[in-house]
Amino acid sequence: MAIYGGGRGLIAHTVYTQTDLHEVWGGVVPELASRDHVRRLVPMIRAVLKDASLSPSELGGIAYTAGPGLIGALLVGALVGASLSMAWGVPAVGIHHLEGHLLAPRLELDPPPFPYLALLVSGGHTMIVDVVGVGQYEVMGESLDDAAGEAFDKTAKLLGLAYPGGAKLAHLAEMGRPGVYKFPRPMLDRPGYDFSFSGLKTAALLALKSAGDDAAARADLARGFEDAVVETLVTKVGRALEASGRQVVVVAGGVGANRRLRARLAEVAARYGARAAYPRPEFCTDNAAMIAYAGYERLSAGERTTEGPMARARWSLSELRPPGA
Ligand code: KG4
Ligand code: ZN
Repeated sequence: MAIYGGGRGLIAHTVYTQTDLHEVWGGVVPELASRDHVRRLVPMIRAVLKDASLSPSELGGIAYTAGPGLIGALLVGALVGASLSMAWGVPAVGIHHLEGHLLAPRLELDPPPFPYLALLVSGGHTMIVDVVGVGQYEVMGESLDDAAGEAFDKTAKLLGLAYPGGAKLAHLAEMGRPGVYKFPRPMLDRPGYDFSFSGLKTAALLALKSAGDDAAARADLARGFEDAVVETLVTKVGRALEASGRQVVVVAGGVGANRRLRARLAEVAARYGARAAYPRPEFCTDNAAMIAYAGYERLSAGERTTEGPMARARWSLSELRPPGA
């Protein structure tokens, strides 16, 4: 839950993660996720309003995540959002989760001006998007199978790291040596900007057989895996920068918290005369501030979701339009 306001920027924000809940089950159990949302949401809204010393009558509108994602969890948010909108007499707008990620860098001081390229790398998505303006997103390339975060999590699981293991694998890789384990760089031999990460799992499984229980070898493996994913990502971003001539590339999504990715992206951007911009890691992973910001942009342009609670499990970015259009 977050509050974003004209002139004041981000006023308050908080994130409640269900990681502990998901860790027990080794992944997201949809029904448990929704029930937990029901329990947490209203107390959280109360706490954030209190923290910001605001009353509901001072709000200009409500933005909630309308999709894409697990329908049960989305419905909880949409119903609460639409109900509060009626009770408080303020407009509501349903926001596309990925639009939140794409606009998140604009929460920072010195926000990147439109247009910019975005590398969106999360547990569910891997995309290079040309962000022309709010609601104007051209997907240049995407993963044809596993998302980058998913690949991190699956390999982390093979290494015995708890879900979601991406950050833990990255931590292990810090202690590993580069080049000891050579993983394939999928799709680099093909033109275009698409990715494929599902093959890396098999490579990781084979590598693990040779690493066995040796701690140093496992760290080398983690490093080799991380390098393969990062190099694949940044090479395609380099191509997209060259083709588009954009001056800025931003990283968004949970994998954007990866330190090696951030460092390599800056180097590759510089090679093409561009710069890399990053939201702070807490705005890379799922957060409410990015939804509040996207909602602010759309609500202040007069957009409203009037048909009641909106929740869409599937929703393509290409369906989005600029606010008011
Ligand atoms: O955007 P996000 O918080 O949630 C969605 O998937 O929408 O992304 C979560 C993903 C997980 O797969 C997690 O393992 C990965 O981001 N992740 C990382 C790092 N921190 C989070 N992957 C690699 N290195 C990290 N430091
Ligand atoms: Zn996300």
